[in-house]
Amino acid sequence: MSTPKVVRSRADLATAVEGLPRPRAVVMTMGALHDGHAMLLRRARSLADSVVLTIFVNPLQFGPAEDFDTYPRTFDSDLGIAAAEDVDLVFAPTPDVVYPSQPRVRIDPGPLGSELEGAVREGHFSGVLTVVAKLLHLTEPDFATFGEKDYQQLVLVRQMVKDLDLPVEIVPVETVREQDGLALSSRNRNLKSPQRRAAVALSQALAAGAAAGKNGAEAVLEAAGKVLADEGLVDVDYLELRSPELEPAPESGPARLLVAARVGKTRLIDNVPVEL
Ligand code: PAJ
Repeated sequence: MSTPKVVRSRADLATAVEGLPRPRAVVMTMGALHDGHAMLLRRARSLADSVVLTIFVNPLQFGPAEDFDTYPRTFDSDLGIAAAEDVDLVFAPTPDVVYPSQPRVRIDPGPLGSELEGAVREGHFSGVLTVVAKLLHLTEPDFATFGEKDYQQLVLVRQMVKDLDLPVEIVPVETVREQDGLALSSRNRNLKSPQRRAAVALSQALAAGAAAGKNGAEAVLEAAGKVLADEGLVDVDYLELRSPELEPAPESGPARLLVAARVGKTRLIDNVPVEL
């Protein structure tokens, strides 16, 4: 286990990337790494001969009232995880390296960009896709792993790659959870203990919904909704059943159940596959 090389400038990144063997995989993160990110790195390692980790809290995807300033930054511990997962190169730029000037051209996520998370977070997915496109160009990977935890992000990144003919394969990774079911998230560390206990209602609601799949869409939403309604500390933004591509839910077959809720000031999201 050796500490990976860390680069912060475009020039150093370009030089370092050139020396990395293909196939090459990239894992993009905003840092504050946990076992979910580690799983993405492990999957990347299994696919590729070299692995690049990017750590960048992207200002473009945060709204003015959101938590950009307080987003957890834990660089030393992130490097320890990168070393343990055998990462070859870490790109950890500052905002002025990624955005030498405020970008006037941005990626348009299309209609899905203003639904679900996008309905609550205006401009979020345009900011996400813009930085993902930039980081793909800067690292030129064959593979990029993305977590199902951020399911709408995964679907939109896949759509961008397809629609813009970007030469990379997007590889999804299942959500990593705590023992009680709570999806791992960098924001979980903001939960105080009663909130942490309440937060488990999200994954429990999704499990209850998935278990009702064979009884149809209405039964799924009712079962999940009941679990959420029974937890007073959880303030639901949306609970929706959609197709796997996040179009309207089918009558039967594979679907996706998605939830977003606020617990105190912390916003949490989760989702599961459902078979209708
Ligand atoms: P971040 O929230 O740091 O997540 C980085 C990657 O880790 C994403 O692909 C996310 O889906 C995945 N991930 C997070 N928690 C996970 C879990 N519990 N199980 C599995 N995977 C998990 O998502 C972002 O950063 C940013 O939007 C980014 C893509 C880096 C663009 O700025």
